[in-house]
Amino acid sequence: MKTKLVLLGTALLLALINLIAQTRSTSPTKELMRQKLDHAQSVLEGITLENFDLIAGHAAKLGALSQEAGWRAGDTPEYAEHSAIFRRNIEALKKAARERNLDSATLAYTKLTFNCVECHKYLRNRKIAAVTESPTLSDFLAGLPEDTPWATYGKADAVTCYY
Ligand code: HEC
Repeated sequence: MKTKLVLLGTALLLALINLIAQTRSTSPTKELMRQKLDHAQSVLEGITLENFDLIAGHAAKLGALSQEAGWRAGDTPEYAEHSAIFRRNIEALKKAARERNLDSATLAYTKLTFNCVECHKYLRNRKIAAVTESPTLSDFLAGLPEDTPWATYGKADAVTCYY
């Protein structure tokens, strides 16, 4: 009996650990997005140390990331436009590294940083818009059947009854 309980306890504990591990693991898109930051930092390192191979290598990695399926987190024309600008800046970075032109590389990197910020700003605004457009509490209450006790909660005359 005791053994059975211990076994059951262990099984439950394992299930719980598994559940926590699952919820904590990051999505492929999230992982990909984080890699952008690492490569962008390495490009900056290349610029500051005048290491053109470092710039070219990590610019190429950034370009490749933007071709992966996980990159397409949005399917709006605006998202496509931001992605196109991203790729143009990457091409400019690669060209600057090929030509060993530090000023051009710095300019392309700066434009790239603006592009990171602009796309993220766009995504955040879109999220806010989605929340604003979601049904309000009164919409939700209005949709409830009349016999639900709290269906009239939001209506002025009924509010006092429930306080
Ligand atoms: C075309 C749009 C776009 C561009 C350009 C872009 N990102 Fe992102 N970024 C995204 C999306 C989409 C996400 C995921 C947002 C989410 O999880 O809701 C994201 C998320 C991130 C995250 C957070 C990942 C996490 O842990 O959740 C980081 C860091 C990041 N991006 C860095 C960058 C950097 C650095 C650049 C520029 C070199 C950049 N991004 C350019 C679209 C973009």
